Formats: sequence, C-alpha cells, structure tokens
Amino acid sequence: MKAIIGGTGVYGTSHNSRVEKIKTKYGEVEVDVINIDGEEIVFLARHGKKHSVPPHLINYRANMMALKEFGVNYIYATAAVGSCNESYAPGDIVVIKDFIDFTKSRPVTFYDGGENGVKHVDMGDPYCKNMREKFYLYSKELGLDIKGDAVYICTEGPRFETASEIKMYKNFGDVVGMTSVPEVVLAKELGLCYSSIGIITNWCTGIGGEIALHDIQGSVDKNRERITEVFIKVFKEGLDQENCYCNNSIIEL
Ligand code: HPA
Repeated sequence: MKAIIGGTGVYGTSHNSRVEKIKTKYGEVEVDVINIDGEEIVFLARHGKKHSVPPHLINYRANMMALKEFGVNYIYATAAVGSCNESYAPGDIVVIKDFIDFTKSRPVTFYDGGENGVKHVDMGDPYCKNMREKFYLYSKELGLDIKGDAVYICTEGPRFETASEIKMYKNFGDVVGMTSVPEVVLAKELGLCYSSIGIITNWCTGIGGEIALHDIQGSVDKNRERITEVFIKVFKEGLDQENCYCNNSIIEL
C-alpha cells in the first residue's frame, strides 16, 4: 500500500475518499483512503485537516506507526519550506535529498529502550533513492518543473528563524522547514520507503535583504494538484524495495 503525507497547504486530494481511524500504541490517527482505478492510497494530513497541530507537537510516532500498521510501504510527503539558497525561489519545487537536524524537544525514535530495545538506524540515504529518481522521471513526463535537490534544515519552530540563524544555516543547507525530522527517521526505523518534495513558500529571514511576505497557501496551491498527480503516477507504475536500503536500515549491535 502507498501513502501521501500532505504538509502545510495540502489537506486532501480531489479524489473521492473514505475516512479510516487507525489505533496505535502512540495514539489514534485519522486518514483518508482514496480509491484510484481500484487501487487504494492513504492520505494523511500532517498538521490535521484544519492545520490545528503545530510542528513540534505532531504525533509523528503515531502517524508513522499507523501507516505501517495499515500496510503502507511507500510514502511521498510534501513539505512547505523557506529557501536560503538564492537558486531556489518561492513557488519552486525541490526534491529533498538529505537533512540536518536542529530540532530540540521531540520523541525521535521508536527504539527508546522500552520493550522495543535500543537500536540505531542508518542515515546514508534517508530519503528513498528510488522514489526520488521516479519523482524526477515522472515530473518530466507530466511537465512539472523541478529545480533540483535540496538539503533540508529542520528547525524546532513554531517560530521562524532569526536572520543570524539563517546566515548560519545557509552554509549547511538549501531549505528550512520544521517537520521532516523525525518523520523521515521514523519511516526508516519501520523499514518504509519515504521521499519528501519541498514546495518553496518564502525566502528565509534576511535572504534578499527585505522582510519576506509569506504567501504560503498561494505557493502551495500553484503546485499541489500536479505534485499529487506525479505521486499517483509513480504509485501506479509500481515501486519495489529491491534497489534501496530503506527496508534494511537498522544497525544491529
Ligand atoms: N522557516 C521554517 N519553516 C518554514 C519556513 C521558513 O522560512 N517556510 C515554511 N516553513
């Protein structure tokens, strides 16, 4: 089974769906199940359908465990991000390739020494290589312009960054957001293939020298339908876990 996690501004698709509630030991999660030509795809709104959960309080473990328990193996996510790379402007689409974690207060693992024990997870390729390649391939086919790969700086939020923070972050990465960690990490712990597509909604603080006007919903609206179309196209063409390490990333001690 395949899933889409919709980030800020992406709260559903235009397809018919039914609501499903999935109970996990971390909490209950509500998803939409969409039927496309006989194939079911799960849709999860990361912040809730009314954007009611801030980034640092999202129950990432419940979300990812719910998808796993529902039978999901492949996840495409969207992420609204600010750009600190002059080559990526508001409205552009990027494929997230790697991350740097500056979060502070979140549960970051399923392996917290309880009944699941202590395990480490490899981060050599956090965002599934196959799913990234396929996104490029089918975007080209469907005419969606991708600006390039991006390193994602994950901040704690919910506040935006100071100009001095961005001055530092821009030495390390291309885009800044608040949610990819621990989502991608937990996906790997569960052996899931996960890829995230960045939608640039604003210049980061201090970039361009002026106060950025944030039209977050506008930037996302411009691309939402076509990004989802590409996700669905990849899902229909088929995916496997033969050519990546996503299902084999736990480092046994
Ligand atoms: N910073 C952090 N998170 C964000 C931004 C930003 O500039 N834009 C969208 N999400």
